[in-house]
Amino acid sequence: MDKVFFSKDTLIRKEHFWTLILTLDWRRFLVSNKYIDLLKVINWNIVSDLYEKFPLYKHWEIDTLIDLLVKKGILVFKDNYEIFNVSIIENEIISEDAMSFPRTVYWESTQICNFKCIHCYSESNIKWFEWIELNTAKKLVDEMVNNGVEFFNIWWWEPLMYKHIFEVINYCSLKWLKIELTTNWSLLTDLNIKKLKHCWLKFIQVSLDGATKTSFETMRPWSNFELIKENIRKLVENDFVVSINTVLTKINHLEIIDIINLSQDLGASFYKVSPLMETWRGCDNKLDIQLTLKELRLVYENIFKYQEKNQNPKFNIIVNKNVLNPSIKNIDWMPECHYWCPAWRSTCWIDSYGNVYPCSYMNHEDLVCWNISNKPLLEIWKDSKIMNEIRKIDKIDWKCNSCKHLETCRWWCRATAYLRYNKLDASDPLCVAHL
Ligand SMILES: C[S@@+](CC[C@H](N)C(=O)[O-])C[C@H]1O[C@@H](n2cnc3c(N)ncnc32)[C@H](O)[C@@H]1O
Ligand code: SF4
Ligand code: SF4
Repeated sequence: MDKVFFSKDTLIRKEHFWTLILTLDWRRFLVSNKYIDLLKVINWNIVSDLYEKFPLYKHWEIDTLIDLLVKKGILVFKDNYEIFNVSIIENEIISEDAMSFPRTVYWESTQICNFKCIHCYSESNIKWFEWIELNTAKKLVDEMVNNGVEFFNIWWWEPLMYKHIFEVINYCSLKWLKIELTTNWSLLTDLNIKKLKHCWLKFIQVSLDGATKTSFETMRPWSNFELIKENIRKLVENDFVVSINTVLTKINHLEIIDIINLSQDLGASFYKVSPLMETWRGCDNKLDIQLTLKELRLVYENIFKYQEKNQNPKFNIIVNKNVLNPSIKNIDWMPECHYWCPAWRSTCWIDSYGNVYPCSYMNHEDLVCWNISNKPLLEIWKDSKIMNEIRKIDKIDWKCNSCKHLETCRWWCRATAYLRYNKLDASDPLCVAHL
């Protein structure tokens, strides 16, 4: 008789709301937590054995779960065995407002960069910077794998300048940990492409902050527009999945549609935008480059209009509709009210000294939540005073208090508030929902 098999690499995580099933081909959905024990043993069983092993379940309940997973292509009935990497993770549930362990971890692999973008870091610390030991990075990878991280995002400063970058990526691929690598891609060479392909890297993020040489190089001094475009083409030709990000400023906001078109022409698969966070040079230069709320809202409106008219299944614009209407369900495969800002709820950031922060823009020394060299990330995530303080915020001053979207939005971005007002419980200054 045919047995039931997982037919995909799959990460299954029990959380406070439901059990998340995340396939590494990007499909994801939820099943009730009562099925977690069944999911743990379902692989390579015939259905009647499952009835016997789980007498407390009605047969139809087991059949329904199996049917659902078969329809989604996650389980198949077969008589021969194929091995897929299926992890089933059941961490201690820690809060109604956060996952039991980050789903995505952002990591600053270095603290040097060969560009000097007008919105980014104040200076490179090459003189006193110590490289992160390879063993420390590997220990972090092991812990992330054991606790069910879906995505390891290497993205601060210039990761291609980190001397162990290829070893770390290689180690992640050996452990089946998915990586997204964000670099400025100015240091791309044929040899680098070969090495990245060799370690199975798939997901790449590129910054495209202008549609013309002038705007791009004004945002990104020391860069070369033509070279970056050429390198994006090379990455696409070499089958990397390229996602493009634009930081919105006075310099580029009027050419956003041109940037989207250019991204599409270059072969990117995903496109997104970020508001300017008022930190580093982004803070020093904010009077010159930060958009007014009206300008910011108009950019979002233009992107959504463009998106409606230009549907392309191969090019996904992933700007969250909640920015204009925070009552729209934020992540369609999550339950209601799974709040859209992921920081400290499902992501965290680790700097190049191993300090953990609730989010990459909350990189202030007052917000350090211990260091991974002293404590496991799991303990930091669960017990850090800062993480818990933010999770417990239940009252925000000023406009959020009387806002009808409060329950779904849950006061949006704490980092923008902290950066502008130095307070975690101030309203988000970049919220454009009420204009
Ligand atoms: C810090 S960079 C690191 C990776 C790489 N060096 C690059 O330029 O893409 C990662 C992303 O953060 C963006 N970024 C930098 N400073 C920012 C700020 N103040 N506000 C919003 N995004 C910012 C960059 O434009 C880039 O898209
Ligand atoms: S945005 Fe990227 S390339 Fe520009 S200074 Fe920051 S880290 Fe360097
Ligand atoms: S005012 Fe506050 S609660 Fe309302 S949409 Fe804006 S950030 Fe969210």
